[in-house]
Amino acid sequence: MSGLPGKSAPRRAHVAVLAGDGIGPEVVEQAVRVLQAVAAAGGHAFSLESALIGGAAIDATGSALPEETLAACRRADAVLFGAIGGPKWGPSAKVRPEQGLLALRKGLGLFANLRPVSVNPRLAAASPLKPEVIAGVDLLVVRELTGGIYFGEKRRGERDAFDACTYSEEEVARVVRVACRLARTRRKKLTSVDKANVLETSRLWREVTTRVVREEFPDVALEHQLVDSCAMQLVRRPSDFDVVVTENMFGDILTDEASVIAGSIGLLPSASMGEGTFGLYEPIHGSAPDIAGRGLANPYGTIASAAMLLRHSLGLEREASLVECAVARAVEVGALTADLGGATSTEAAGSAVLRALESIAS
Ligand code: NAD
Ligand code: IPM
Ligand code: MN
Repeated sequence: MSGLPGKSAPRRAHVAVLAGDGIGPEVVEQAVRVLQAVAAAGGHAFSLESALIGGAAIDATGSALPEETLAACRRADAVLFGAIGGPKWGPSAKVRPEQGLLALRKGLGLFANLRPVSVNPRLAAASPLKPEVIAGVDLLVVRELTGGIYFGEKRRGERDAFDACTYSEEEVARVVRVACRLARTRRKKLTSVDKANVLETSRLWREVTTRVVREEFPDVALEHQLVDSCAMQLVRRPSDFDVVVTENMFGDILTDEASVIAGSIGLLPSASMGEGTFGLYEPIHGSAPDIAGRGLANPYGTIASAAMLLRHSLGLEREASLVECAVARAVEVGALTADLGGATSTEAAGSAVLRALESIAS
């Protein structure tokens, strides 16, 4: 690559790379190529350190999140993550890969999960929704990531089971503040999603959100939606949404739904943040055991996650935008994986992004 247009100051950064299971290693490999190309072009020194997580870690160590992996993440500026899980370590297994990811998010204090959704017009045909419905969609879901039913007390009896859903005022307030700060950089509209007609945690969520916005972000326009209705509105009039803030499980479900707007779940990136610039970056999809090992996986969501890493953890906004433009360009020249209706392999899609980076830079 001949060099980026303009220059950022050279940046040193240490990145922990947790590829995981299934298609995780396949998509992460392509994102790593892109990070290395960005480093070479901009004179940045990125050191990458791989570590085990999920099923791969269970097989090697018996733990889904070995101590060394947590330590590697703690000494890094950011974490690039692939995906975990698979039929080999199913729901009845004693130790499950998903526990590793949840423990990592909690252990690193990553309470705000940013999941942007936008539409590349070239992919309109990949979405089952009508082109006029998805035109111009640009929304951001801020999903609370370390609370709610995921982390409440769990019990299993002989013939019954129990999962508690809890939220404290502070857990709600801090993620709402993240969403409001981001809304201020966009269209200043915030949709808070809950189930306040049924759940006590949702009534707390609604009260705290209303108070935080009124007292601290009066310039942000707030609306509340019930989650069932929001699920419907998301596919009926998705371009009305700007920033959506919601609790852990609602955010998980709504973002898989929202990926259909973009054309494939393989396209959607995410950033999981705490209070500072440290973050964990991963596509929103899983390990896709049905296509793993066949070169079919779409790497664009993971590459776009690497762009978010450059932006949010390393402060390299120009490089982040460049990578996003390169992904868009790769799509526009027709480098489409099977989920997008094409026949481009995972590796060839990565190469298309690298070529687009070169051509944008020269
Ligand atoms: P999934 O997201 O892995 O797959 C759902 C469907 O989308 C599959 O048909 C798959 O082939 C397709 N798909 C997903 N990513 C794709 C990509 N990049 N390119 C092309 N197609 C893609 O969800 P699932 O099948 O319900 O879960 C499989 C495993 O992944 C489970 O063990 C689950 O717990 C785990 N999971 C992990 C994460 C994570 O690591 N963050 C996220 C979701 C699910
Ligand atoms: C995601 C996944 C995870 C979640 C699972 C694998 C624990 O679905 O990152 O969206 O539910 O948060
Ligand atoms: Mn999910």
